[in-house]
Amino acid sequence: MKFSKDFLFGAASASYQVEGAWNEDGKGVSNWDVFSKIPGKTFEGTNGDIAVDHYHRYKEDIKLMAEMGLESYRFSISWPRIIPNGDGKVNDKGIEFYNSIIDECLKYGIVPFVTLYHWDLPQVLEEDGGWTNKKTVDAFVRYANVCFKAFGDRVKHWITFNETIVFCSLGYLAGAHPPGIINDPKKYFQSTHNVFLAHARTLKDYKKLKQFGEIGITHVFSPAFSVNEKEENKFAAYHANEFGLSWYYDPILLGSYPEYVLKIIEEKGWTPQWTDEEIEDIKEAASLNDFIGLNYYQPQRVIKNTEPIENASRDRESSTGAAGSPSFDGVYSTVKMEDKKYTKWGWEISPEGFLEGLRILRKRYGDIKIYITENGLGDEDPIIDGEIMDVPRIKYIEEHLKAVKTAIKEGIHIKGYYAWSVIDLLSWLNGFKKQYGFIYVDHKDNLNRKKKLSFYWYKHIIKTRGEDL
Ligand code: BG6
Repeated sequence: MKFSKDFLFGAASASYQVEGAWNEDGKGVSNWDVFSKIPGKTFEGTNGDIAVDHYHRYKEDIKLMAEMGLESYRFSISWPRIIPNGDGKVNDKGIEFYNSIIDECLKYGIVPFVTLYHWDLPQVLEEDGGWTNKKTVDAFVRYANVCFKAFGDRVKHWITFNETIVFCSLGYLAGAHPPGIINDPKKYFQSTHNVFLAHARTLKDYKKLKQFGEIGITHVFSPAFSVNEKEENKFAAYHANEFGLSWYYDPILLGSYPEYVLKIIEEKGWTPQWTDEEIEDIKEAASLNDFIGLNYYQPQRVIKNTEPIENASRDRESSTGAAGSPSFDGVYSTVKMEDKKYTKWGWEISPEGFLEGLRILRKRYGDIKIYITENGLGDEDPIIDGEIMDVPRIKYIEEHLKAVKTAIKEGIHIKGYYAWSVIDLLSWLNGFKKQYGFIYVDHKDNLNRKKKLSFYWYKHIIKTRGEDL
């Protein structure tokens, strides 16, 4: 089977992780510009001041993407580059930069797939309460409208938010992302609701503009499975999926929050502050999603938690995605299993979990259109005789693309696959050590670019539309 002609083979990046130029051409300061400079917050103090200098080298990078045969480039817009203080004057130079990126993509026939929010919030808004403040909701909707008006003639694929669960839970429970708040479930739930509201209102505005593109949101897709048939562990997995999947997917796709979670957070006093009008907006917007974006790296293996809750992830080390800590509410724990395969960073490699998760998703939400907006292997790539031999990455992507193929055969509506990442970039918590790209960046030699083995392999897959997989 070949992937259909309208299936997009792509790869992705995010502004803070690639651009650099953190204080150039009128860009405002972002929460990450500040947070990454707090000692101990990032791996060896790395930050995105320069990142891989995509801001100055985007032409060279997009040329390489074209050479790889990439059909679509998923990138994010840095909000503080467009509106430096979050809700004030628009920075023309910021608009100019993304116009150049978009036009450069289109020059080669690469479809720009744009994320509006991949975590770099204007610092002024962060200091005013960030996502816990409703003012941020209004400011986001305004920023989104600025982007639609500036780029919407050429951009026809929009993602509002990337991985709400990650920036909200690491921001308000683990303290490992800005604003670095530890163990505040009330703020955590409030921030998730505010993001869903911003998403809903943005969709309503986008549809009014009649730009006839598609718009959706990207969520982490990390389905939880019980480690065995024991009732207590099966319940732990159910609970994990209600809090980690349903809480995020239900408001977007069904327009309401899951009863199970609502009941618990009510008892605990964690219910967000919301109005009937907000709940109505979320309900109305559910039918306006054109797709859902899924970022899949690994499933979760879950047991009933027996450890003290203090052992839940509360710092950088324990927040980098490896299994082994209790959930914030102490109900379940994620565990590493003897019979599973793991990456060097302790992430499980499971194309089976991917496929099984897709089936579960279809069962709950029906025949929604899906883009796999991220999937890939973080590794330290071996260099042999000057060549970057990233064979494990090829194998990882191959196995996951095969799962996508099977899912499509089963009638699951997947219309694109974006490998993470197009080029080696800054990992938020793991610096430049953890590589994901098809293109290598030499940090010892002027950030020079070099094609990896996977570059040629992906080129072949795209050219043959995955027939040889
Ligand atoms: C996703 C993010 O969570 O995972 C990316 O959307 C991130 O921005 C990617 O880089 C990989 O995470 P990590 O921690 O391995 O760099």
